[in-house]
Amino acid sequence: MAGNVWLMPLKNLDDDACAIKLGEIAGLDVTDAQRGFVGEPLRMVLIGLEEDSRHPFAIDANGSAVGVLTLQAGAATLAGWADDDSVWLLRGFLIDRRQQGKGLGTLAADAAVVAAAKLTAALGGGQTGVVLSVNELNPAGRAAYRKAGYEDRGQYLGGDSGPQRTMYRGF
Ligand SMILES: CC(C)(COP(=O)(O)OP(=O)(O)OC[C@H]1O[C@@H](n2cnc3c(N)ncnc32)[C@H](O)[C@@H]1OP(=O)(O)O)[C@@H](O)C(=O)NCCC(=O)NCCS
Repeated sequence: MAGNVWLMPLKNLDDDACAIKLGEIAGLDVTDAQRGFVGEPLRMVLIGLEEDSRHPFAIDANGSAVGVLTLQAGAATLAGWADDDSVWLLRGFLIDRRQQGKGLGTLAADAAVVAAAKLTAALGGGQTGVVLSVNELNPAGRAAYRKAGYEDRGQYLGGDSGPQRTMYRGF
């Protein structure tokens, strides 16, 4: 198990620090088999920086980015939740293929809940937790979320990449 991860909120960085992080994020990659489960990291983060509802984070370990994730308000139905606004949507989550299998994904999925609770406290959106959808054929993703305390809330057939599981963790 790796020591720790730090979720760095990219919207809070000044331009120079953000440019350095974006350079690190541009070098992240997943395995060929995982490419259908998640978007391209730099592209997802750049979209996140432009949209008010999205909060992109670098997942840092030992001072450099090993992954990314985004928390989004008002979009939970994209993960099969009954409404958009009562919980945060976790999306665009990946750990670089060279850093996988060390426990970092589990730690980051756990830290995402803490970060989401802080956003709710700061912004007053009233959310009660975090939801995501993970492909049924993605055992690493399902294991990381389960180990980080997310509950399986059933199958979700939305989207165009096959059956998903809706997973939720409250604050
Ligand atoms: C999902 C992901 C973030 C997990 O990151 P990670 O750092 O490798 O996660 P961890 O090291 O914490 O491992 C989590 C669990 O998955 C298990 N796991 C890893 N690869 C696996 C595989 N191919 N099959 C089954 N289990 C697997 C690990 O063994 C571990 O469980 P264990 O500790 O009980 O053995 C990473 O695999 C990834 O980036 N995948 C591509 C993008 C993606 O699928 N994102 C999620 C979209 S919802």
